[in-house]
Order: sequence, then structure tokens, then C-alpha cells
Amino acid sequence: MVRGINTSGWRAVVELGSGTGALSGVLSEALPPGCRFLAVERSAALVAEFRARWPDLEVVEGDAAEVGAICRMRGMPSVDAIFSALPLRLLPEGVQDRVLGGASHLLAPGGLFAQVTYWPRALAAGREMRERVSARIGPIESDRLVAGNTPPAWVFRCVRPRD
Ligand SMILES: C[S@@+](CC[C@H](N)C(=O)[O-])C[C@H]1O[C@@H](n2cnc3c(N)ncnc32)[C@H](O)[C@@H]1O
Repeated sequence: MVRGINTSGWRAVVELGSGTGALSGVLSEALPPGCRFLAVERSAALVAEFRARWPDLEVVEGDAAEVGAICRMRGMPSVDAIFSALPLRLLPEGVQDRVLGGASHLLAPGGLFAQVTYWPRALAAGREMRERVSARIGPIESDRLVAGNTPPAWVFRCVRPRD
């Protein structure tokens, strides 16, 4: 999700749907010194596992649909990147809209939104989801299969246009 990205100027990053932190360790290692990393996860049980596994990383139990308020309350009015492993396609449309609307307001101009999905690109539903994310955030700058993942995953990244 971070391959090929220059993270050197980043100061704040959020991960949505962090679960037990399968991605969080790798993501946080890719960040420059001093960059704030905040994980948001809805399940209290997974947050507890996350904290046991990654005691040095910041995680909050909360709904990604409230990501703007969650970050503001923690002194993060805007972020340079949002990484999401949320099952976006499976969430009700209203929740998707709130997640993407919140993400789009929170992202700094030029900020990156990266989503991992396990649905094959050819499926119409997967394409629709990418289009919906891109319409809310900005143009897709990369979209690729990570065949070595089990199961194979698609990672796509959108960039919020600079004003
Ligand atoms: C596919 S799992 C990914 C977990 C982990 N990031 C990984 O890569 O293994 C999706 C995660 O999103 C969380 N989730 C689903 N809806 C959410 C929401 N509205 N707000 C925050 N987390 C949510 C689930 O509890 C689950 O942990």
C-alpha cells in the first residue's frame, strides 16, 4: 500500500479498519520520524488485541464513518494519507458515503487514500466501488494486483487534488 510513495513530508496518517494490526506495523515503519499514526477500529475485541500486539502504536475504538471527528478530537485536523482495509463494498451506502465524505475532508490537498480489497477487478461491484471512491476523493493514481497476498488483493490509491 505504501510501495513507491515518498512519505518523507508526511506528518499525520490514519488507518481505517485496522483489525489486529496486520498492516499497521508495516505502514508505521514506512513513516518518517515524528509522523503521527492513528488506527481506527470498530471492534473492541480487535482493539484490545491490537494494543497487546502493538503497544507503541495509537489505536482508537471507533467508527470510520466518524473519522473526521475522531481525528479532530485528537488534534489531527488534517492528514497526509488514509489507509483503509474496510470492507467498503459490504457497508451500507450511507455508511460508505460518510466514510468517504469524512476522509475527503480530512485529507490534505495532495493527500493519498489507499484501499485494499479482495474482490477481483473484473467484478462490476469492485469497479463500481473504485469509481465511487475516486469520485469522492480524487483520481486513481495506481491500481494493481498484489498476487503474493493470500488471498490475492487489489490495492488502489487515489489522490485528493490540490486546490
Ligand atoms: C478486512 S478486515 C481488515 C483488518 C486488518 N486491517 C487486516 O488487514 O488484516 C476489516 C476491518 O474493518 C473493521 N471495520 C468494519 N467496519 C468498520 C467501521 N465502520 N469502522 C471501523 N472499523 C470497521 C472490521 O472490524 C475489521 O477489523
